[in-house]
Amino acid sequence: MPADTFVAPLTKPAHLGEDWLEPEQRTYSSAEHHIWDDLFAQQMELLPGRACNAYIDGLKRLDLGRGGVPDMGAMSEELRSMTGWEVVPVPMLIPDHVFFYHLANRRFPAGNFIRTRENFDYIQEPDVFHDVLGHVPMLTDPVFADYMAAYGRAGWKALHHNRLKALSALYWYTVEFGLIREEGELRSYGAGIMAGPAELVFATGARSPNRIHLDVDRVMRTDYVISDLQPTYFVIDSFQELYDMTVARNFDDLYAALAPGFTYANQAVLDSDTVYHVGTQEYALRGGGGSGAAPV
Ligand code: PHE
Ligand code: CO
Repeated sequence: MPADTFVAPLTKPAHLGEDWLEPEQRTYSSAEHHIWDDLFAQQMELLPGRACNAYIDGLKRLDLGRGGVPDMGAMSEELRSMTGWEVVPVPMLIPDHVFFYHLANRRFPAGNFIRTRENFDYIQEPDVFHDVLGHVPMLTDPVFADYMAAYGRAGWKALHHNRLKALSALYWYTVEFGLIREEGELRSYGAGIMAGPAELVFATGARSPNRIHLDVDRVMRTDYVISDLQPTYFVIDSFQELYDMTVARNFDDLYAALAPGFTYANQAVLDSDTVYHVGTQEYALRGGGGSGAAPV
């Protein structure tokens, strides 16, 4: 991972057009394909019982374990026939408005690079394994696929109201780190959980994090950490519920009522929350990832 990935200003590389898309997916060395295969094999052990049914179905239908980093062209063709989505290669994190533009047009921008062995279990910025294994299977679910496209359209309104951070928190707590109640269990549908072996076990089973039913007004006021396992996960009952709480609701009044910054710390449990599990927060209190605390 290049050390300057996060702090580099978003300067568009000269060879890219206004859409920031790479003309084609890069080629990977055999060592890089092996990293994909090893990550994939590791996740296959952990996903059953922890990943939601829609994700497992999508994974099977797309057959992402053929060996090596999947070909985005072939994957897009299959995905297009299911929900109209495609996967397009980008070199790095792209500007927000460009990201929204692609989502609104049912294109999922996927990072071109793959993590190194030193960063096998946890990375802070999205690589091709996170973007493809984490996000793409969920895009085979018709309701979730519609939610993602609507989210892209919603970005414009959030920018207009100057409340992008609030909408980003919603993405974070749903698309990246969402849990769903299914067959009496709390399972993951979030890409940040699926593609990280540490987070998959932690999010679904550990005693440290809170698990709280998703409330859009609450979540859009809640801070989030981007560089460690989450102190709180938010839970839905179905993708239709997620859709109805967000897409089917007009956000104008919500944005108008929001303070410019976050109101709630990411570890907070509120009286108004519907709580499934009050976390012990042992992991965070012992110092989190930086301290080598056990993710219990
Ligand atoms: N319904 C929201 C609005 O009117 C937009 C939205 C769609 C937000 C999907 C999040 C996800 O602004
Ligand atoms: Co992601």
